[in-house]
Amino acid sequence: MNILGIDIGTGGTRAILIDETGAVRATETAEHPPFSTPDVGWAEQDPDDWWNAAVIAIQKIISKFPADSIGAIGLTGQMHGSVLLDKADKPLRPALLWCDQRTEKQCNEITETIGKERLIELVSNPAITGFTLPKLLWIREHEPAIWTRVASILLPKDYVRLKLSGDKAIDVSDASGTLLFDVRNRKWSQEMIEVFEIDPELLPDVFESVEITGTVSRTAATRTGLREGTPIVAGAGDNSAGAIGMGVTKPGTVSCTIGTSGVVFGVTEEPRFDARGRIHTMCHAIAGRWHNTGVTLAAGLSLKWFRQNFGGGNDYYELTRGAATISAGADGAIWLPYLMGERSPHLDPNARAAFVGLTARHSSAHLTGAVLEGVAFSLRDSLEIFKENGASVETIRLGGGGARSPLWCQIQADVYGQDVLTLQASEGAAFGAALLAAVGVGLWKTVDQACEKTVCVEEVFSPIPENVAVYDRQFEKYRRLYPLLRSIQNVEEH
Ligand code: XUL
Repeated sequence: MNILGIDIGTGGTRAILIDETGAVRATETAEHPPFSTPDVGWAEQDPDDWWNAAVIAIQKIISKFPADSIGAIGLTGQMHGSVLLDKADKPLRPALLWCDQRTEKQCNEITETIGKERLIELVSNPAITGFTLPKLLWIREHEPAIWTRVASILLPKDYVRLKLSGDKAIDVSDASGTLLFDVRNRKWSQEMIEVFEIDPELLPDVFESVEITGTVSRTAATRTGLREGTPIVAGAGDNSAGAIGMGVTKPGTVSCTIGTSGVVFGVTEEPRFDARGRIHTMCHAIAGRWHNTGVTLAAGLSLKWFRQNFGGGNDYYELTRGAATISAGADGAIWLPYLMGERSPHLDPNARAAFVGLTARHSSAHLTGAVLEGVAFSLRDSLEIFKENGASVETIRLGGGGARSPLWCQIQADVYGQDVLTLQASEGAAFGAALLAAVGVGLWKTVDQACEKTVCVEEVFSPIPENVAVYDRQFEKYRRLYPLLRSIQNVEEH
């Protein structure tokens, strides 16, 4: 039996096929058109772009492996996005994405209405611009004609589920990022729903990640080539599924993933909150476990942005090869990665990015190095909060595109001052979603067991002591920059 995992990312959709031993048999991707930014800080995508990409990625897999060999499907994807459907299940407008920052006013309203502390009690998180409820309130306020036609609300991967099986369902980890979910008790928050007057009928049913939510419909089978009746499990948001794909299932093991965003992810056996709301608290994709995440909004995006605008036509390999010739600390150049505002540790949609400390000596290679270091500093900021809150960080596993660059892995070891490990299956969230589906149909008894059998360490990067000392000093300077720059960054807004 093979198992299919599908990850509805931001840049594209990835489908991965694993066999009964967890070995990857095939991976296929299909790009999405770039997200649109109708205004500064806005980010929107058409849900049908995800479905079309999913169809292409699935068809490519089916062209190599018979649909009958696929025993189950697991879904994962970008979190928080607001998919609004009419009565006929057609999207009413493009979805507002996880990195859309337009909802500062709605976030303030949510905090004022509920109270900061009560909000943490109810949904375990502060009001964050990227989360779903503030997006709903923005649409209700600015597009009332659309809002009155809303018949259901879904998250991105769950729109693809709807197209595959006709079911409206969500899993506990993705629901945790809506601000409408009682993370502690793993169910919709009655109080939030009532206070913000969201009709509960609009929300999908909630499942644990390995539960089966439905099966592939005849229409979807015709469109994709999948076998009608193939079971689909609830799956998980991309952070939780990515953590499963990296074997991050228990306290003590932490992952640092650099994709478009950067995520530091640690597991807890009960919900644990940061009193200052600097990191998120959500359900993990394993029943009875939760997680904390620190999110850097522009991690891989920082390097992408730098390459596109100042990279001189170099590809990532050439760019990072140049950076490898620069000594640790980039001769004093520091990058603050707040291109999209920020979440962790500064919950501030108006935070802005900056290069600081430049001299005439600095070259593009220095600046590339500074970008890699600045992103690692930002992830270290989240690791420090984990430690401050009493979480143990015994092992650090690296994932995402960032883990494919040996230089970025070494910089992370040096900045964190700790060994970091890369893993053999670097397919991340799609792999995790496939493991959840495999557990859902009984291939392994538990998610822990699935991870123990299938996730293998590839390489260990150990910190270089001289670099650690340089980075410790540089990190102290880095931390002082955001408070210093904040007053001028917010000038235009106030
Ligand atoms: C998590 C988050 C991002 C997206 C990226 O809270 O917003 O990691 O899920 O796809």
